[in-house]
Amino acid sequence: MNHGVNATKAFLKDLGDILEKKKAIKEKLYDGSLEIAFFPPYVSLAEASSRIETLRGTFVGAQNVYHEENGAFTGEISVSMIKEIGCTHCIIGHSERRHIIGESNSLIARKMQKCTQEDIIPVFCYGETLEEREKGMTVDIIDHQLRSGLEYVESETINNGKVIFAYEPVWAIGTGRSAKAEDAQDICNRTRSIVSDLKGVEPDKLIVLYGGSVKRENAGELLNLKDVDGALVGGASLKVDPFTGIIDSWMNG
Ligand code: PGA
Repeated sequence: MNHGVNATKAFLKDLGDILEKKKAIKEKLYDGSLEIAFFPPYVSLAEASSRIETLRGTFVGAQNVYHEENGAFTGEISVSMIKEIGCTHCIIGHSERRHIIGESNSLIARKMQKCTQEDIIPVFCYGETLEEREKGMTVDIIDHQLRSGLEYVESETINNGKVIFAYEPVWAIGTGRSAKAEDAQDICNRTRSIVSDLKGVEPDKLIVLYGGSVKRENAGELLNLKDVDGALVGGASLKVDPFTGIIDSWMNG
């Protein structure tokens, strides 16, 4: 719940200006070795969609969506609505939606189904709470969340890179305390084997992000881990300088 229309406009303008100077980042966006997707609140999606038209290699997604096509679901937004406004991606199952709003694994599975059927790339978030980690339940929790979230998702969709996985330990989100590199690597690697066993896809075909207190200072290490393909960034994406700092660290790491 950050960045209304004006803040989104200002952010993307500043980013465009900075990219004119940061040629190395721009080159990577142009050659396809770097992709950036922005997920502002619903009210800012139209602004973001029109702004990214001039920023090659960038995409816009929603932070949430409802799985029904249309009808009496007051306050909800459908997949066709976010597509119409220019979204190609949507975050599904973010920990704040699971733990604050109370979304269940079964609701999340329906949202995953609807997005993948309608060609919206879900950024599927999963991860353990601190209590679960301390009880040694991390692997069981992520295994369960992956199995239920992917229940109605076709293997081919995953093989085609049309699902993005985002391991986000709940205790690392917004706390300034990221996972240790070896733990992020371990769970991102396990994600590949769990999904490969479950859906018969090649482990290397999965796109797996790490999220949770990613910033300039730790991005070089986290984003260059073998099984980590990118980051889902919250706090450090609100201003352009720390955000592009993450990309610089990844490139220099
Ligand atoms: P953070 O948030 O980067 O501020 O920890 C991550 C997220 O909200 O997914």
